[in-house]
Amino acid sequence: MRISQEIFPRPVVLVVTVDGKGKENIMPASFVMPVSFSPKYVAIAVAPERHTFSNLKEVGEFTVNVATLEMLEQVRVCGSHSGRDVDKFSMTKLTKTPSKKIRPSGIAESPITLECVVVYMNLFGDHYLVVGKVVEEHVRKTTFSPLLHYTGDSYMEARAIKS
Ligand SMILES: Cc1cc2nc3c(=O)[nH]c(=O)nc-3n(C[C@H](O)[C@H](O)[C@H](O)COP(=O)(O)O)c2cc1C
Repeated sequence: MRISQEIFPRPVVLVVTVDGKGKENIMPASFVMPVSFSPKYVAIAVAPERHTFSNLKEVGEFTVNVATLEMLEQVRVCGSHSGRDVDKFSMTKLTKTPSKKIRPSGIAESPITLECVVVYMNLFGDHYLVVGKVVEEHVRKTTFSPLLHYTGDSYMEARAIKS
C-alpha cells in the first residue's frame, strides 16, 4: 500500500519555483507539513525527477500557495505536465502575483501564499525533504474550502465537526 493511502487527507498546495533565467513553474504537492509556529517553517517533499527540484537547487526559494476546491482542474493540469516542457502559468491562466522578498511569484487565486527560503534539503528514500523558512505571507481569505488529496487522482473535501 502507498503511504498516501495510509496518511490522508493531505492539503494540496501549489509550489511555485523559478529557474536561474527567471522562468517560473507550478507543481502541486500534498506531501506538505507545517513545522514551526514562530518563526514559521514549512516542509515539502519533492521527488528528484521533478523540474521543481532542479529549480529549487538552482534558486533556493519557493512559494506555497494553498489550493481550494475551485482550483482542482488547474491542480490536475499542473500535476500532469512538467515545467521542463510547458509554461504552466500560461496553460492554466493562474495569475502571478509578485512576492515581496523572494523571486518566485505567488498565485492570486490562492487564499494563502507563503514566501519561503530553503534552509534544508535532504534525500529520504524517493523524495527530498525540503524545509523552507517563511519570510513573508499573504492572506487573501481566511474562509475557504481547501482541496484535500487522497492518492493518485482522488481528492476529498473538508467538513467541520460540530461540537
Ligand atoms: C494532488 C497532487 C499532489 C502531488 N504531490 C506531490 C508531492 O508532494 N511531491 C512531489 O514530488 N510530487 C507531487 N505530485 C506530482 C507532481 O506535481 C507532478 O509530477 C508534476 O507534474 C511535477 O511537475 P514539474 O516537473 O514541473 O516540477 C503531486 C501531484 C498531484 C496532482
